[in-house]
Amino acid sequence: MFDHTITDIEKNGFVGDVMEKFVIEHSGRLMGRVRIGGSKNSVLPIIAATLLTDKECVIQDVPKLTDVLIMQNLIEDLGGKTAWTEDEKLIVRTEDIVKTQASYELCTKMRASFLVAGPILARCGEVKISMPGGCAIGSRPVDLHLKGLAALGAEISQEHGYIYAKADKLVGANIYLDFPSVGATENIMMAAVLAEGQTIIQNAAVEPEIVDLSNFLTSMGAQIRGSGTDTIKITGVDKLHGTNHQVIPDRIEAGTFMIAAAITDGDVFLENIVIDHLKPAIAKLREMGVEIDEAEDGIRVKGSPDRKPIDIKTLPYPGFPTDMQAQFLSLLTITPGTNIVTETVFENRFMHVPELIRMGADIKIDSRSAIIEGVQKLTGTQVRASDLRAGAALMLAALAATGTTEIHDIYHIDRGYYNFDTKLRELGAKIRREEKTC
Ligand code: EPZ
Repeated sequence: MFDHTITDIEKNGFVGDVMEKFVIEHSGRLMGRVRIGGSKNSVLPIIAATLLTDKECVIQDVPKLTDVLIMQNLIEDLGGKTAWTEDEKLIVRTEDIVKTQASYELCTKMRASFLVAGPILARCGEVKISMPGGCAIGSRPVDLHLKGLAALGAEISQEHGYIYAKADKLVGANIYLDFPSVGATENIMMAAVLAEGQTIIQNAAVEPEIVDLSNFLTSMGAQIRGSGTDTIKITGVDKLHGTNHQVIPDRIEAGTFMIAAAITDGDVFLENIVIDHLKPAIAKLREMGVEIDEAEDGIRVKGSPDRKPIDIKTLPYPGFPTDMQAQFLSLLTITPGTNIVTETVFENRFMHVPELIRMGADIKIDSRSAIIEGVQKLTGTQVRASDLRAGAALMLAALAATGTTEIHDIYHIDRGYYNFDTKLRELGAKIRREEKTC
C-alpha cells in the first residue's frame, strides 16, 4: 500500500518535459451541476501537521493537485510514508523522521513547503529549510513565521539561503502578529501544540483554513481555543495521536466556478460548499445583479448580461479574498461601466491584466488599483498563465471571448485546480488540453 515513490511527480507531468496548453473556444452558457473539491489551502498545512505525530492520519477529500503531490513527497523525503485510497483519501504515517532538513528541490517548487518548519521543529527539536523564494505575486517574506518560532524559544540563524532553527524544548509565549498572516498563524500553531505551557497568538489570521487546521490538530489531541478569531490560545501537550479528518470544501474553487457561471450568463449549481465561506463572493455577485439562490446542499448561480459595475478591495478574511481577485476581474472586463479593483494583500497580483488587455479588455493600473472599463466583448488570442489564480482568470475570460484562446504555462493552474478542465467540459465548456509543440 505504501508504495508511493518520489518520481510520481514526474508521472504527473509537473517537472516532466511535457509542456501543455489549454485551447478554449467561445463556450456559450455553462449549465449543470459541479461538485467542489477539498480545499488546497487546508490540505497543505494539514499534511504538514501529520509530522506532529508518529501515528497514522487519514485525510479525506484531498484534491490530487500538483501542490499536494509536492507536499506528499516532502513528507516522504523526510521519512514518512503516504498512500492514496481509491476515494481520494490520503493516508500518512510519519513513524520515522529520518532527517530534519527539508528537500531543497521540493521546497523551491512551492512556497507552502515552509509550513513543515514548525512541525519538524516541534517533533525533532531542529529544522533546516530553504528560504522560500518570492513568487509571481510578491516577495512573500517569512519574517512573521520566524518571529513566532523565536518567541517559542527557537534559536534561528540564516546562512546561504537556508534557515536553521533549533530548540531543545519549545516554551509557550504571547505572540502578536504584525499582519494576520495565514501561513505564520499556521506554522506557529503547529509548533505551539507540543510546546510547554500556553501560547497566545494575537492578531491571528481567521481564514476558514485556519479553523480546519485547528480542528485537525484538536482531533489529534491538541488543546486549541479561539481559532477563527484573532486570538488563539494553545496549551501544549506531550504527544498527539493519529486521526481521520474530512477537509473543508475549497472556497476559492467554488468562487472560480461562480464566476464561470456568471461570465457565460450560465446556470450552474455548486455542490459541497460552505455558504458562510463564500459571503464576500456572493455579496459582490449579487451587487452586480447576478442571481444566487442558497439551498441546503449548495448554491445556484444564474448569470445575466445586464450586470452593474462594482468596486472590490481585497482584505484578509472575512474581507474579499485576494485569491478570488483575478477571477472577478475577468468578469468585470465585460461588465458595463467603470469597475475598480484594489489589491491590498499582495504587492504584485495583477499579472493577469496585461494578458486580459491582449484579449481586448480596457484596464488601467494605478498603484494598487485596476480601473476596468467594461467592453462589449473579449477576443480570443494566445495568452500565458503567470500564477495559479491569474491562469484561472484567463480560462474564465476565454470561455466568454469570441474565437479561440490558447493558454500557455498551464502547470500553474494544475497546481491549484484538480480536474478543472474536465469539470468545465461537463458544464458545456469547449476546452481541451494539448501538448505544446515547441
Ligand atoms: C496563504 O498564503 C494562501 N496559501 C494564499 O493562497 C493566500 O493568497 C494567502 O494565504 C492570503 O489569503 C496557502 O494557504 C497555501 P499570508 P500565505 O502569509 O500564508 C505578507 C492561492 O492562490 N507576509 O497571509 O503565504 C505576505 O508577503 C495562494 O491559493 C509577511 O510580510 O499568505 C503577503 O503580502 C496564493 N511576512 C501577506 O502577508 C510573513 O512572515 C499575506 O500573506 C508572512 C506573510
